[in-house]
Amino acid sequence: MQDILEFLRQEGIEKELIDGIRAFRQEAPVTGELKRRIPAPEVYYLGTGIWEKAIAAILCRKNLLLAGPKATGKNILAESLGAAFERPAWNVSFHIGADAAYLVGTDTFDGNQVTFRQGPVTLCAENGGFGILDEINMARNEAMAVLHSALDFRRELDVPGYHLVEMQPQTRYIATMNYGYAGTRELNEALASRFVVLDMPIIAEADLDRLIASRFPDLKAELRSQFTSLFYELDRKARSAEVSEKASDLRGLLDAIDLCHRGLRTGDALAMCISDKTFDPYEKQLIQDVIDERIDPDLSGSDLFA
Ligand SMILES: Nc1ncnc2c1ncn2[C@@H]1O[C@H](COP(=O)(O)OP(=O)(O)O)[C@@H](O)[C@H]1O
Ligand SMILES: [Mg+2]
Repeated sequence: MQDILEFLRQEGIEKELIDGIRAFRQEAPVTGELKRRIPAPEVYYLGTGIWEKAIAAILCRKNLLLAGPKATGKNILAESLGAAFERPAWNVSFHIGADAAYLVGTDTFDGNQVTFRQGPVTLCAENGGFGILDEINMARNEAMAVLHSALDFRRELDVPGYHLVEMQPQTRYIATMNYGYAGTRELNEALASRFVVLDMPIIAEADLDRLIASRFPDLKAELRSQFTSLFYELDRKARSAEVSEKASDLRGLLDAIDLCHRGLRTGDALAMCISDKTFDPYEKQLIQDVIDERIDPDLSGSDLFA
């Protein structure tokens, strides 16, 4: 993988921002075991405008909320930021059972004594990490309350039964939140006010072309552009509510190309990864028609890959 600061330079990111990252890295370089926590994403996020906003916000000590439709690269951006700033990352998932004890930690009994086992939010704060608060809008309010003091200017965490955790200055929280074109799911106001928000766009066409080319270097250019235009057509139809948003899923498209790479026919792969995710027969047919219009269903490995 290319050096990420060199990548950012080639992407045309402002020199001042890249210099800012360099200076940030010097503040408290990560050593030992924690180095393994510095993310090493498979691809770096593509999108210059978003990169510049995110870097500026982190340099200004802000916490970031990445909000947007699914598969707009929110997690890839969060990981890319961890890689660029060389900070250890903790993933915090807001699954249904996530409560305060999971987030900040809890007392555990090891057979001899009771000790406090830190949760990901606490570990992140103590080590100046980047905490990736994934799909934060799924969080229960009572779980979120414990984060308030960490996320605002107080920058400290009062952990019951432990002690007052002072956040290391490098600590940042990067939250992600999925919302659709149709309905948004609101984030409670107390929480939203503690972040700066990046409204995540779907990947630009030229960037998608580069993304597919880097993931599938042997995919023929002509097919690459067919897959790309299929994605934007499905996205357009989802935006205008002709089909549901399930159809507009970059992850599904990339998965389909993966399956073709393994030898499946295009029609089967695209059905498995896109149209068959919709269970309404009428809508499924609509999506199928869009696919068939753009990509011959009978193509196999040698037609697609050089
Ligand atoms: N702007 C982008 N740059 C790089 N990869 C992207 C971008 N947008 C989407 N992707 C790709 O789409 C897939 C889903 O990305 P992910 O970060 O998990 O999305 P999200 O968290 O927004 O649902 C990944 O394979 C990722 O590489
Ligand atoms: Mg995600």
